[in-house]
Amino acid sequence: MAKKNLENTQYAYVKSHGCNANLYDSHRMMDLLEHHGYTLVDEYTKANLILVNTCNIREKAAEKVYSAIGRYAKHKAEKQKKGESVIIVVAGCVGQAEGEMMRERAPVVDIVLGSQTYHQLPEMLERLRRKDPDAYRVNTQFPLEPKFDFLPKVKARQIGSTSMAIQEGCDKFCTFCCVPYTRGPEYSRPFDVLVQEAKELSQQGIKEISLEGQNVSDYRGKSSCGRKTYSLAQLCREIANIEGIARIRYSSSHPRDITQELADTHRDCAKVMPAFHLPVQSGSNAVLQKMNRQHTRERYLEIFDMFKSAVPHIKFSSDFIVGFPGETEQDFEDTLDLVRKVEFTRSYSFAYSQRPGTPAAVEALQVPEDLKKERLWRLQELLDHYEKTFNESLVGQVVPVLFTRKGRREGQIVGRSCYLQSVYTEASTELFGTIQKVELVSAGVHGMGGKILR
Ligand code: SAM
Ligand code: SF4
Ligand code: F3S
Repeated sequence: MAKKNLENTQYAYVKSHGCNANLYDSHRMMDLLEHHGYTLVDEYTKANLILVNTCNIREKAAEKVYSAIGRYAKHKAEKQKKGESVIIVVAGCVGQAEGEMMRERAPVVDIVLGSQTYHQLPEMLERLRRKDPDAYRVNTQFPLEPKFDFLPKVKARQIGSTSMAIQEGCDKFCTFCCVPYTRGPEYSRPFDVLVQEAKELSQQGIKEISLEGQNVSDYRGKSSCGRKTYSLAQLCREIANIEGIARIRYSSSHPRDITQELADTHRDCAKVMPAFHLPVQSGSNAVLQKMNRQHTRERYLEIFDMFKSAVPHIKFSSDFIVGFPGETEQDFEDTLDLVRKVEFTRSYSFAYSQRPGTPAAVEALQVPEDLKKERLWRLQELLDHYEKTFNESLVGQVVPVLFTRKGRREGQIVGRSCYLQSVYTEASTELFGTIQKVELVSAGVHGMGGKILR
């Protein structure tokens, strides 16, 4: 890829919202901007290109973007007073969902990019700079060629642990979800390309890779000759052969795609972490059907048993939505009952949010906001109970922890256990990117205290 020199716009600030797939995209946009001569800065006030990569999953997430744009607009106005220019780019799922509408609502935004077109950003910036009469400001196509084919070499932008997008988009169309519309149809990145990318990340000190996508359990990557198709289980096994990689995770999966082969991979490969994130959304078959989830609570429990038989110490985490249209008290009780059966050790739970353009948003039987809030509170109380009980059961054990960041307190560093618990300890930042033996000494709901053993 030829390197261009984009004058006057050389300091770029990139802010990422949303899921790990978005974070991966943000890192790749940073790769792209650096490749085209930009220097990355960590505060928007130092930048003359501000790029915000957005999330549209719930109303609150989407609205956040407009308050951020308000802040960036002030900075832009101040710079303009001094005769300097600032370009504001909105990328990602809100950009994709709103397109032209976003520039109408926030004309201060210079460029709107969808989730599949960010590789075209340098060209759009160049045209804008040249005041090209054909410069286009909104780019939300789903191009035939995947964006990944147009990106420079990957650069590890986190210490020790990173995400790697293996799959994009979704064909499942759950009735509450905007993702099939914001990320487009399912696409799996080629197998050999991913294995090579994992090797490059490992050479840059990455020990833990999280394989990301909206439906990774439906991964069907082609070989370079195009004749063979590989599954997620096969990809995990291949990445496990890379010497420097010590841990493999993947997210998100869908109960419809889960196979015995995947459970066996957890059993056979110690590098595939014993923590399985499998969103269930609801424990009620009636709600699951209205959500178009295409699985039942019985199938979910079967998968739970299958993975437990393969790896007895495996732990489950999940995503839940409460207050889906038409959800009755009994439906909600069924969700609580499922939580009691599986004893999830980590979870993300949300009140249902109406997303424009999705079928559930126009359902007549919307659950009142205060009832949604009350159910969410009851569900979270139960989820917290199981998370805390599990954390407490580990106190006294010695576990490997991968340290990656500073804690809030002076001298404190934080890492992750195999089960993704945050483990806090007092130690030098020189341990960043290393896996240490840690004795767990205390337990909270969402984290644990530890002591490094020498
Ligand atoms: N592909 C994953 C799956 O099949 O469950 C979900 C990915 S989605 C990006 C992450 C989570 O956001 C979902 O699991 C769901 O719990 C939540 N979510 C999606 N749409 C939502 C909505 N309209 N309101 C509330 N939460 C929602
Ligand atoms: Fe959304 Fe359902 Fe697709 Fe997950 S499987 S991304 S919840 S539509
Ligand atoms: Fe949000 Fe888009 Fe991810 S809507 S959760 S950033 S796929």
